[in-house]
Amino acid sequence: MKFFVDTADIAAIRELNDLGMVDGVTTNPSLILKAGRNIAEVTREICELVPGPVSAEVVAADAEGMIREGKHLAKIAGNITVKVPLTWDGLKACRALSDEGHMVNVTLCFSAAQAILAAKAGATFISPFIGRLDDIHLDGMDLIADIREIYDNYGFETQILAASIRTVNHIVDAAKIGADVITAPPSVIKSMANHVLTDKGLAQFDADWKQTGQKIV
Ligand code: E4P
Repeated sequence: MKFFVDTADIAAIRELNDLGMVDGVTTNPSLILKAGRNIAEVTREICELVPGPVSAEVVAADAEGMIREGKHLAKIAGNITVKVPLTWDGLKACRALSDEGHMVNVTLCFSAAQAILAAKAGATFISPFIGRLDDIHLDGMDLIADIREIYDNYGFETQILAASIRTVNHIVDAAKIGADVITAPPSVIKSMANHVLTDKGLAQFDADWKQTGQKIV
């Protein structure tokens, strides 16, 4: 399973990247706003740091505008993945950009039907949003399972990029289903290391070690 980091925060990307835990990065207009940076500048910096796919999202609503923006974003670096929304125009842009050899991430996917269209349009990645489906009391993980089954039935090569991840369980469940990639905020990836029994065990070892009066070095 590949790990993408869902942020435009350079320091957070660097910390995880130094541990070899970053296979790619995803950004969106909200994350660019949160970073408070110019999109071209921050995206270039991310691409210099991470050799894997870095998603940069278009904002035009029509296919022509998306293609124009996508080509412009793709000039930032060779590892740019153009992110387009799952609308009819987004699918047109996906086909055009993909035919020109660009990686394309089709985002804001909320149904298996949408995911089939993205694969047919030549998407490199499909981004089903788990957390936002959970938010409206649907099961986001069911969507990951449905897409996995359908893509496997027909050998679609589009990679399932499980997105809108809010919890460690989202990551583990997506891994069990066989999502190709997860993209998660740095805080969620880091919290995968936490376990109450690890903390408890460590406290006990620490207390016992102090009683030995020994030093290792
Ligand atoms: C994915 O590419 C999106 O940037 C992201 O996962 C959205 O997550 P959210 O629903 O937590 O905003």
